[in-house]
Amino acid sequence: MKLVITKDYDDLSKQAARLIADEVKQRPDTVLGLATGGTPVGMYRELIAIHQKEGVDFSQASSFNLDEYVGLSGQHPQSYRAYMDENLFDHINLPREKTNVPHGDAADLGAECKRYEQAIAAAGGIDIQVLGIGNNGHIGFNEPGSAKDTTTRVVQLTSSTIEANARYFDTIEEVPTQAISMGIRTILSAKKIVLLASGKAKAEAVQHMLEGEMTSDVPASLLQQHPDVTVIVDVEAAAALS
Ligand code: F6R
Repeated sequence: MKLVITKDYDDLSKQAARLIADEVKQRPDTVLGLATGGTPVGMYRELIAIHQKEGVDFSQASSFNLDEYVGLSGQHPQSYRAYMDENLFDHINLPREKTNVPHGDAADLGAECKRYEQAIAAAGGIDIQVLGIGNNGHIGFNEPGSAKDTTTRVVQLTSSTIEANARYFDTIEEVPTQAISMGIRTILSAKKIVLLASGKAKAEAVQHMLEGEMTSDVPASLLQQHPDVTVIVDVEAAAALS
């Protein structure tokens, strides 16, 4: 895995946005794999700035998000669909119909997971997948114990993930306990992966991902088997590396 250590979150956001913008410039019909959460907010802000200043054209691109909460419709303000609209899609020329986020409110969740996986395959697979990392080493919502061969499915969130995400809700009781998430196999099938981590709370998970054994107990460590991963971390998230 290629490691880039940046001086701070701002620098991390700029470098990550540049990678994505270059990919779209080189290949206008890129299939983007996108993440939500706190970490990529700065990257999306920078990407919007690059789009505005340099005219990077997203009109032929498409996107697939990693995950969505079960039970929330795209209209729910805390849904990942709403997050993506606010933080990126409302500000660039990626056609809305080419953006994909799992439908967390689907009546048949199993069928929705299958549909999502098939839609990724029909698009030719993901060219560049953006990931964050959970304090417990999760990627997407593949919590510790997630097997290497998993595909898009309904997952149970751990209490540590529910607590970490409670900051976006009024009360912890409102945080959904399940999500639809791409699986480890789905993620590993992406041609390129860019993982972002910022802050000291991520230091231990980053250390295990890069220097620990490959184990489902720390799902991010399974990325070691992928041939093209760039890990961009700020100094705080890099603090436990040897
Ligand atoms: C988000 C996702 C999660 C987050 C992770 C880190 O789509 O799949 O794996 O990337 O929980 O979240 P933040 O960035 O909020 O620390």
